[in-house]
Amino acid sequence: VEEHSLDRDCTTLSRHILQQLHSFNAEAQDLSAIMNRIALAAKIISRRLSRAGLMEGALGFTGNINVQGESVKKMDIYANDVFISVFKQSGLVCRLASEEMEKPYYIPENCPIGRYTLIYDPIDGSSNIDINLNIGSIFSIRKQEGDDIDGDARDLLQNGHKQIAAGYILYGPSTMLVYSIGTGVHSFTLDPSLGEFILSNENIKVPTHGPIYSVNEGNFWQWEDSIRDYIRYVHRHEGYTARYSGALVGDFHRILHQGGVFIYPGTVKKPEGKLRLLYESAPLAFLMEQAGGRASNGNMELMDVVPDALHARTPLIIGSKEDVALVESFIQDRA
Ligand code: AHG
Ligand code: MN
Ligand code: MN
Ligand code: MN
Repeated sequence: VEEHSLDRDCTTLSRHILQQLHSFNAEAQDLSAIMNRIALAAKIISRRLSRAGLMEGALGFTGNINVQGESVKKMDIYANDVFISVFKQSGLVCRLASEEMEKPYYIPENCPIGRYTLIYDPIDGSSNIDINLNIGSIFSIRKQEGDDIDGDARDLLQNGHKQIAAGYILYGPSTMLVYSIGTGVHSFTLDPSLGEFILSNENIKVPTHGPIYSVNEGNFWQWEDSIRDYIRYVHRHEGYTARYSGALVGDFHRILHQGGVFIYPGTVKKPEGKLRLLYESAPLAFLMEQAGGRASNGNMELMDVVPDALHARTPLIIGSKEDVALVESFIQDRA
């Protein structure tokens, strides 16, 4: 029996993007080139991860603290630098903004023509790196607005509708790339023997309701009553199952396929919670909406939230429409 069909082998990521673009104007060409560079970054990071446990100096901490106040891992920096190197050569991206850089990184030689900004979380789920569990990378592409003469990237402080593409890479048993350019959500699996991302699922749709609830219940003691009420509701009703991996990308990927809800709420002390709007919540909200689901901060659509800073945080409720609405109803009941 053949492992997989030849037709499937030929639907590579780059081929697929061209099909999705319909027209082939300048912006479409740019987008397809950018996506190809992201795929290259994914392969480079994936290659290192697959051998990290055998390599000297790939795992562990750098000893530095990032702008988030978190201890940085060597893989966080490696992955951060891979995206920079890949886009230095592309000519298309003028700025990169990431979780691991306090300020955006400018590539001056690209800036006159490169009108795009890549916003990314180089490694999502950093606590999983050293124990060989699933991690990810999240990316979002926005068009630069204005000249950014001061280099303060204020034009990035806009809502999620300004994204022209978003996606993530999941480094799991296999490496997958999931993306949307506003024409549905599509997933690809890296075939290491070909060095290509091959189409796995086209037009993924999230169920309107699902059994998964994904939340760090260890934080119960610091939550608002509304979130506690929702979790008590789940505990008392049949049909729910808990899954939480410590990497948003992995938990999101499960919910995308099986339905349910991921919640990272604010706490009494930190009302904005932990997740960052521009490179975690907004790209995943873009994907979830494209898959027929929803994302909310509890009071409004996540896609409408405007960050007040590059590293702004937001509560996140994301997944199946009915499950997101149920969590919101608990929040509104207590408001
Ligand atoms: P990152 O590793 O990029 O800093 O993100 C970690 C995030 C996210 O991946 C995950 O869902 C969440 O933090 C886990 O946080 P807790 O350990 O507080 O549950
Ligand atoms: Mn981090
Ligand atoms: Mn993250
Ligand atoms: Mn990260």
